[in-house]
Amino acid sequence: MNNPVTAVILGAGLGTRMKSQHAKVLHEAGGDTLLNHVIRAALSVTTPEHVVVVVGHQAEEVQASVRVPGVRFARQHQQKGSGDAARSAQSVLDSKKGDAKDGLLLILNGDGPLLKAETIQRLVAAARQHGHGGALITTRLDDPTGYGRIIRDEYGHIAAIVEQKAGTPEQLAITEVNPGVYCFSAPEFWAHIGELQPTQPANEFYLTDMAEILRHHGSPVLPHPVSDNTELLGINTRVELAVADRILRNRKTTELMLSGVTIEYPETVTIDVDVRVAPDTVIEANVQLRGSTVIESNCRIGTGSVLRKCKVAAGATVLPYVIADNSVIGAGAHVGPFSRMRMEAEACENAHIGNFVELKKTKLGARAKASHLAYLGDSQIGADVNIGAGAITCNFDGEKKHPTSIAAGAFVGSNSTLVAPVNIGEGAYIAAGSVITKDVQPDALALGRAFQVDKPGWARKRRQSKR
Ligand code: UD1
Ligand code: CA
Repeated sequence: MNNPVTAVILGAGLGTRMKSQHAKVLHEAGGDTLLNHVIRAALSVTTPEHVVVVVGHQAEEVQASVRVPGVRFARQHQQKGSGDAARSAQSVLDSKKGDAKDGLLLILNGDGPLLKAETIQRLVAAARQHGHGGALITTRLDDPTGYGRIIRDEYGHIAAIVEQKAGTPEQLAITEVNPGVYCFSAPEFWAHIGELQPTQPANEFYLTDMAEILRHHGSPVLPHPVSDNTELLGINTRVELAVADRILRNRKTTELMLSGVTIEYPETVTIDVDVRVAPDTVIEANVQLRGSTVIESNCRIGTGSVLRKCKVAAGATVLPYVIADNSVIGAGAHVGPFSRMRMEAEACENAHIGNFVELKKTKLGARAKASHLAYLGDSQIGADVNIGAGAITCNFDGEKKHPTSIAAGAFVGSNSTLVAPVNIGEGAYIAAGSVITKDVQPDALALGRAFQVDKPGWARKRRQSKR
């Protein structure tokens, strides 16, 4: 059996060049934080128990942002460089789990969100085959500015990695760079980590110096060149963040289209990494699917719609410009255009919600309809109910929210005002324009409005009086 891979992810740095109050690894691209993308990549070669994230700057926030259970954290108390960060992980590595002693030590910069699973898997295989000090990814860049340059020895192994700040003009002319993806031999690495010295002029401990140290001890590190350098971009500025975002979005739409989803004008849509969409669903231009949204098959999502943490069941139609958060759209339901759903709203199967209808914490039953201009809040609405245009649930008395229930088959006339808490019985009928303040019995008619008064000839007389 292969020895385990322990992954150490460096996420303690400040990220000065982001010009932000937030730690760099908390910034988002493709719908998740930089750090979560890197953790996801690490999990392609190991399990959460073998992942250690080194935190420092805004440690609590960074730790809270990690959504994978089981991942461990180590503190780097002062940001003294990537080498010092890696060393900080040692304190939490568990020799019982085989972490420190054997196997491979994958070290990833927390600011490289584009790395693909296959690439890490290939690096690990290369490191395993090479033995010695392990292997690290290299790539060529037309403009290598800012990256550590790879100096190879006569055997093609890594002699040294020279940082931008320390390089001679000849070294800085080298275009083969270190993207910050390392797979060391764990025993070799931990045996010699103590030999790192602060490097001038930055006075930091550079992780990159480990390649030279290990070679010196007869355990050279193998360069593992990767030609697709878009995978290896490190994010230091918001400009690079936007580049990474575009690449991740493009990957997501490509993956969905290849799996059977139609996306019109894919360059205009924004789909987060965790979103799932089933085949034969059509996504129109300028749609945003955010968070953990799941869309089943044969749905249509209309242009301009923004769905966050929503579930859309098979065959549902979302017309243009629907804004929905944390809500459920049932099978065959029709929602939109211009509808709003929020706080666990649900439109059950074959329900209809039309323009300028808002559902908040409200369940609209199967085949029920609210086709125009309504606010339905804190309500349970049964099957086959019809909500007329302009109907409002008055769920807030200025201090507290109150519930409304409307039983199956009821008819709520246009412009009705239902003052909660209130219950409308099954099959009841609310006359248009009513203000309903008391419960309505099943099958009753409730009328809560002033009666109409007709004054014959009144209008004619008024006109005549003005002559
Ligand atoms: C680093 C590499 C460089 C490589 C580049 C790739 C070093 C010395 N240099 O440079 O060779 O080409 O990445 O993107 O590593 N970190 C800590 N604690 C610290 C300092 C950094 O945890 O005290 C973390 C950061 O959060 C980041 C990673 O280490 O995730 C790399 O640090 P960064 O400052 O971005 O290094 P670069 O200058 O980009
Ligand atoms: Ca960096």
